Amino acid sequence: MIRQCRKSDIDVIYFIVNEAAKSYERFIPTDCYHQPYMSMAELQTEFKRMTFYGWEENGTLAGCMGFEPVKDVTLIRHAYVLPDWQNKGIGAMLLKKLIQLTKTKRLLVGMWEANEGAARFYKRHGFTIQLYKDELLKNYWNISARQIETSIVMELRK
Ligand SMILES: CC(C)(COP(=O)(O)OP(=O)(O)OC[C@H]1O[C@@H](n2cnc3c(N)ncnc32)[C@H](O)[C@@H]1OP(=O)(O)O)[C@@H](O)C(=O)NCCC(=O)NCCS
Repeated sequence: MIRQCRKSDIDVIYFIVNEAAKSYERFIPTDCYHQPYMSMAELQTEFKRMTFYGWEENGTLAGCMGFEPVKDVTLIRHAYVLPDWQNKGIGAMLLKKLIQLTKTKRLLVGMWEANEGAARFYKRHGFTIQLYKDELLKNYWNISARQIETSIVMELRK
């Protein structure tokens, strides 16, 4: 079941993000990776900026995706499914829900450029890699110069 996340979900989202990030640490430039990948303070800030949706399985969350309208676009942020629950269609269901909710013409998602699995996942859902990704990352995200350098952006036009 997909549902909007509540403040009381923050501990389980913290767990999901940091467990799922462990499995993809090989894609992250070593100078950008740390444990935990996202601190509780950072997650609390992100929670205020955007709406998280989660997939609930047997009364607990197994995956989450953040939805953040910014200026004239919408961003997908922090898409994570617990390693044991990956490749079962949970990410696809969350993504379809966020696509449905998107009111802007353009839906953007950023990822580490080495994360080819994530790029394949979004491509399967109609997203395409953007050439002017630095401009997009500077305009719509609030991330470091190093992360801009090592990330790509994909877009879905509605
Ligand atoms: C990327 C991520 C969110 C996708 O979530 P997911 O639940 O694994 O996604 P799905 O199960 O819908 O799809 C993943 C693959 O499983 C396959 N799959 C889907 N349903 C399936 C099923 N019932 N049985 C077997 N395989 C299935 C799909 O073909 C898909 O293949 P693809 O990657 O080539 O598109 C998840 O893998 C993750 O958390 N990765 C680590 C963090 C990350 O990279 N986040 C993205 C940052 S932008």
